[in-house]
Amino acid sequence: MNAGGTFGGSVPPSGATGEMPPRTPRPPVDPPSPDPRDELPVSDPLPFERPDAPQRELGPTGRPMPDLPEPRPLTTHGHARVISMCNQKGGVGKTTTAINLGASLAEYGRKVLLVDFDPQGSLSVGLGLNPHEMELTVYNLLMEKDVELSEVVVPTGVEGMDLLPSNIDLSAAEVQLVHEVAREQTLQRVLAPALAEYDVVLIDCQPSLGLLTVNALTASDGVIVPLECEYFALRGVALLKTTIDKVRERLNPKLEIDGVLGTMYDGRTLHSREVMERLVQAWGDRVFHTVIRRTVKFSDSTVAGEPITSYASSSTGADAYRQLAKEVLARWPDA
Ligand SMILES: Nc1ncnc2c1ncn2[C@@H]1O[C@H](COP(=O)(O)OP(=O)(O)OP(=O)(O)O)[C@@H](O)[C@H]1O
Ligand SMILES: [Mg+2]
Repeated sequence: MNAGGTFGGSVPPSGATGEMPPRTPRPPVDPPSPDPRDELPVSDPLPFERPDAPQRELGPTGRPMPDLPEPRPLTTHGHARVISMCNQKGGVGKTTTAINLGASLAEYGRKVLLVDFDPQGSLSVGLGLNPHEMELTVYNLLMEKDVELSEVVVPTGVEGMDLLPSNIDLSAAEVQLVHEVAREQTLQRVLAPALAEYDVVLIDCQPSLGLLTVNALTASDGVIVPLECEYFALRGVALLKTTIDKVRERLNPKLEIDGVLGTMYDGRTLHSREVMERLVQAWGDRVFHTVIRRTVKFSDSTVAGEPITSYASSSTGADAYRQLAKEVLARWPDA
């Protein structure tokens, strides 16, 4: 992908011709915490992040763009890593990331299961399913003892990528689960049979931090936080981090933040670049080097009911998600 959009934080942009426009005062923004890096487990630093690595061109996050290794081919499948796409703010790119990261991982030979865990059912609709024509959904799997995972999973148009669909029925589960024993572990329990079959399970969360999202975090090894590159996107991130911390302490000690993903980035605006700068200040190396630029192709591909990797295979949006797939595979142990 063309990294483009280089900009200066502490380091001046290469080839800059003039001064940056003067900074105007901005509304105050909630930082996630004084220094969240002190508290959260992260994957080991990658070779390209070593301080002695040769100087590279700055990427859109203001850090040198790494050379991401080509994912190694897999000969066997299983030991799935479970990842939640999580942000209680709506419309930040959770579903778009689940679909397109999933499709890109499948292109790299990974067996992927997408879990639509949002009663809006956008992930299912975005892959061409009709919400009124679903016989069984995640809701049945969660609430009915005799329904098995294999009965609910459906193939998608992408080879190697399956889907656990969802529709508005799932909103009832949030209420009904409250009365269940081990209510936070329900999704983890029903997903257990998938772990031996798939390499990656991506859970698309709804925009809330309620019981469904807590179930998703309890079932996960990692969290990816998509964040729209605009100021108000940073508000509320502290609450998300607190929720992740609580789930880790009380329910799921292995839970990691796999990465924070800047979405709807517009490298032409100082605004987008400043938001990226702040994200890197607050979250350090957990911010993915890959950013997803703003393009209407994403909405077009949703209407078409397929990932951008097949709808517009050579677009910059498709390439960005392929690069993200490489980056997450480089971060994950044994991936
Ligand atoms: N990089 C992008 N550029 C332009 N539009 C985008 C981009 N990513 C997502 N969109 C569009 O923005 C809208 C919201 O995206 P998406 O549904 O992925 O967000 P979400 O976080 O899952 O929302 P919700 O919280 O409602 O589930 C969709 O119409 C989608 O097509
Ligand atoms: Mg969504």
